[in-house]
Amino acid sequence: MTSYKNLHRFILITAICTFLLIIAGGLVTSTQSGLSVPDWPNTYGHFMFAFPLDQMAGGILYEHSHRMIASFVGFLTVIMAIWLWKREDSRWVRFLGVAALGAVVAQGVLGGLTVLFLLPTAISVSHATLAQTFFSIIVSLALITSRWWHTEQPLLRPSTKGISLIQLSLMTTIVVYIQLVFGALMRHTQSGLAVPDFPLAYGQLFPSLAPNAVAQYNQQLIHSDLRLVADDPITSTQILIHMLHRLWAVVVSGMVIWTSVRLLKLSSMSKRISRFAYLLLATIIVQLTLCAMTVLSLKAVDITTAHVATGAFLLASCVLVSLHAIKLYGFKKRKAVVSFSAQEVTV
Ligand code: HEM
Ligand code: HEM
Repeated sequence: MTSYKNLHRFILITAICTFLLIIAGGLVTSTQSGLSVPDWPNTYGHFMFAFPLDQMAGGILYEHSHRMIASFVGFLTVIMAIWLWKREDSRWVRFLGVAALGAVVAQGVLGGLTVLFLLPTAISVSHATLAQTFFSIIVSLALITSRWWHTEQPLLRPSTKGISLIQLSLMTTIVVYIQLVFGALMRHTQSGLAVPDFPLAYGQLFPSLAPNAVAQYNQQLIHSDLRLVADDPITSTQILIHMLHRLWAVVVSGMVIWTSVRLLKLSSMSKRISRFAYLLLATIIVQLTLCAMTVLSLKAVDITTAHVATGAFLLASCVLVSLHAIKLYGFKKRKAVVSFSAQEVTV
């Protein structure tokens, strides 16, 4: 059992390192350092681990550090997958470890390819999205190897009316995941400031995309020094991508709040559940504040990177809530009635 406990601790450390890696990656994009190191897998012709430390300056510092942290996380993932393979009884958990290994290898290759092909949108968006997916897998493994997961939990009786907590939390996870893809699309099509005001958009709820209106917006951006005459003009596609991310945030907020309220109704049963409810609420409030600040600060590096990191944190929290719901209600229908203080619980 001790070795299993150590395995769980090891995966927790891997999850923390992955979160730091996402912040490091976010910094690469936010500081536009993606091409500061033009070659891969070498760094300016050096074997990457032998790159002289005194040359780590400017954008190279961000890009090369990101590669180094990624290599470390890759190394942790190899150990984790082997450890799971040897120590874990459940086949699907062992395969989840292998999936994490596959994801980290693919992620490294995508990172290298985006450099070699000069940051094409499709590869950079895939790299950003796979980062979030990989983080979610590691966080799931951390929960699945925990003592709580392996302790028999009283099964709850699902409500016969309406949507179940499992369905609700899985839907919320998917909605958040889609938002992260829209966010990555926004970032890698340079649409982040295609709409410079907030909460309105060019003073309207939804800006017109007609050519003359877009030309007028471009003039506005030049007058307010947000764009130089020599810069490429903002296009209607960029405005559309930006608005998609903003409008989808309404769906995300609604779903996250709905899930939190649902969890709060269960809070009398377990402190763990109520903690998740408050965690989701706090995360969505922080994220909505950061999103406004991202636009109003004209994409300040720290704020924008915090927005990316909070997005990853929100997704991971939703994944954890879904796994808790699955554990507490069970996927298959079972005769499950739980008594709490001699009271039958139906939620
Ligand atoms: C486990 C491995 C890795 C993870 C989890 C990871 C994660 C990330 C994340 C979260 C971003 C920010 C994306 C965004 O803000 O939209 C990023 C950016 C970036 N990463 Fe990685 N990364 C990994 C490995 C690598 C490797 C091995 C390279 C090798 C060159 C690399 C190169 C880059 C580059 C160039 C960017 C900036 C892309 C752009 O600005 O378009 N990454 N990474
Ligand atoms: C509440 C739900 C939201 C979530 C979960 C979320 C998450 C994210 C994530 C993860 C990214 C970066 C994706 C990546 O590159 O990997 C992003 C980008 C961005 N988000 Fe959000 N976002 C939300 C709402 C908003 C709202 C309402 C705005 C308001 C305008 C906003 C503004 C931005 C901007 C401007 C960027 C791009 C920054 C850049 O170009 O560097 N976000 N979002």
